[in-house]
Formats: sequence, C-alpha cells, structure tokens
Amino acid sequence: MSTPHGLWITVEGGDGSGKTTQSELLTAWLEEQGRTVVRTREPGGTEVGQLIRDIVLHHRGDIVPRAEALLYAADRAHHVTTVVRPALERGDVVLQDRYLDSSVAYQGAGRVLDADEVRNLSLWATDGALPDLTILLDIDEATARTRLNAADKPFDRMEAEGDSFHARVRAAYLALAAAEPERFLVVDAAGSVDDIADRIRSAVLARLR
Ligand code: TYD
Repeated sequence: MSTPHGLWITVEGGDGSGKTTQSELLTAWLEEQGRTVVRTREPGGTEVGQLIRDIVLHHRGDIVPRAEALLYAADRAHHVTTVVRPALERGDVVLQDRYLDSSVAYQGAGRVLDADEVRNLSLWATDGALPDLTILLDIDEATARTRLNAADKPFDRMEAEGDSFHARVRAAYLALAAAEPERFLVVDAAGSVDDIADRIRSAVLARLR
C-alpha cells in the first residue's frame, strides 16, 4: 500500500502475548515524539466491526471455517477503508492490534483452510493493503495459557481452543515472519516488558526516519 505520510504498524501474537501492554507503551512514546497515533484493532475497529466481533468471538455454537474467515475479512474491508487509509492519508501513525496475519494464522493453520486462500481473501477485501511494520510477539502456548488463566476472565471462542490449536497458530506466525523478514519484527514475548519495548521502539524509529 502506498503510505505517503503515515506509518502503519500492526501487532500480532497469540492470545496472552502481551500485545496490549506493548501497544500502550509504544503509543505513549510515539506521542512524546509529537506523532498523532490512531490505535485500532481487528476485529471491531468500526461500528460494523463491533457487530462482527460479537459474532466471531461470542456466538454460542459452531461457525463453519469459511464463514468465520469471511466475517473477519468483512470486518477488515470496512476497517481499512473507513479508518486505516484515511488516517494514513492524514499522516498519522496507525497502531493496530491484529490484521491479516491473524487470519492466516488462526483461520488458515489453526483451522482447516488453505493459508494462501485466506491471505488472498484478505488482500481482495482491502485492495492489497499491507502494513509498513508488523510486530510479532512470539510466545509459547504454555506461557500464554498461564497468563490467560491468571487474567481470570472468561475465555472467548478462540481462547477456549486447546493448546494444539495455539501451537499451530504460533508456527504459522513464525513461518509468515520468515517469509517477509523486511515487514516483520519478531520479539520473544517471554522477555522483560522494558526489553521488548526497547526493541519495538528501535524498529519503529528506523521506519519513522
Ligand atoms: P481479542 O479479544 O482482540 O484478543 P487479543 O487481545 O488476543 O487480540 O480477540 C481477537 C481474537 O480473534 C483472537 O483470538 C484472534 C482471533 N482472530 C482471528 O481468528 N482471525 C482474525 O483475522 C483476527 C483479526 C482475529
């Protein structure tokens, strides 16, 4: 995607990888640098997206894999067109929790769909939009599970999946990062919050220049 002024950063990782903490730290730092930050997420970065989020995360009952993939892609199409592109055109930094790599990892490897088909569906939905930087907070399933349990919240549909599902998601993320090393920064999410934040800031700084 052509981003003449803004910077588009997406944050990916398994459930419980600490994306929220790191996004908050990065937002504060970017604002100190005088940047306007639009923090957003998928699914649910728009009003329509909130409705879709409610279905994909909270529907009680089965959603067939292709329907699930289409719901995430529909959320994405609306979000990129109405929130992400306008912000980048204004010159803002868009800091986004999850994007198409989540679909490839969760609907592709995690479920039963072909990863390339899932990716192409998202690229069609967004007219080929790809972020400038994707931060992957890599975490093993056991640590993620411990963190989710400690959070003491009810699990959503995806969090409730077993460890083998989350292991497949993790492997898919690492393969995506290896295939596009210039777009991805992979950080070990088991490290200290400050170390992780430092690594992220360096990668962002390099792209702000
Ligand atoms: P969310 O509550 O936003 O969780 P997190 O804090 O882990 O980001 O839930 C999003 C869930 O939706 C998460 O389990 C991953 C899943 N998901 C997909 O399966 N496919 C997608 O394309 C996206 C964007 C998310």
